[in-house]
Amino acid sequence: MKIKGVVLAGGTGSRLFPLTKVTNKHLLPVGYAPMIWHPVWKLKEAGAEEILIVTGTEHMGDVVGSLGSGKDFGCHFTYKVQDEAGGIAQALALGENFAGGDHLCVILGDNIFQDSLVEEFRIFQQQGQGARILLKPVADPHRFGVAEVVGDRVVGIEEKPKEPKSNLSVTGIYFYDQQVFDIIRRQKPSGRGEMEITDVNNAYIEKNQMSFGTFNGWWSDAGTYPSLAKANELALAEAMPFPNIPRKI
Ligand code: G1P
Repeated sequence: MKIKGVVLAGGTGSRLFPLTKVTNKHLLPVGYAPMIWHPVWKLKEAGAEEILIVTGTEHMGDVVGSLGSGKDFGCHFTYKVQDEAGGIAQALALGENFAGGDHLCVILGDNIFQDSLVEEFRIFQQQGQGARILLKPVADPHRFGVAEVVGDRVVGIEEKPKEPKSNLSVTGIYFYDQQVFDIIRRQKPSGRGEMEITDVNNAYIEKNQMSFGTFNGWWSDAGTYPSLAKANELALAEAMPFPNIPRKI
């Protein structure tokens, strides 16, 4: 089964205002490239040839200007507009036609990480159905979705809990089969009025169809000033990925 990539790059970037006053958060610099290039590189490296980019109306032009058709990255991009910021699951729902029944690796556009996804793609291909998430132990789990793991199973995820049941944050890298779109259709917005990706993941957990992996290397989101600074520092310490990308100087 083919795995296609999805990068979700919507939202208002309010936590990074005024950096996001005239641009999309996902175009801010991280290491050697705009933030959104990092998840694209990871998907391409793992073998995704078709990648959907979802972003809002305001900066779609600049996102397309930054990424282009995909030619420079050796893949093919499809773009979809999320009219209003209604949550991660709502953005993902726009990808149903794009998926066309294939499996998806979905990455939140502000997730910057070290590990390659090659092995994870292989594992999910072997799994054949359901979903898979990637976890990372962190010092500040209350900022994230937090997974409760018993033995080799995730038994539940809580979104930004005040009293986290573990230090295992749910990173913004998710694998789904085609059931994800029916799950989202049946879903209701959360208390904060958003369609939560955590509710999608809990639906797979209830079906007993959720596996998980753990990142060994570093991982950071880049949606707040401290995490953006950290992601930038970590990415700068790495070799520049895909040095063959043409540069106009
Ligand atoms: C989102 C998810 C959260 C996840 C995080 C990873 O939160 O809702 O479960 O842990 O991404 O980056 P957000 O950053 O949109 O607040």
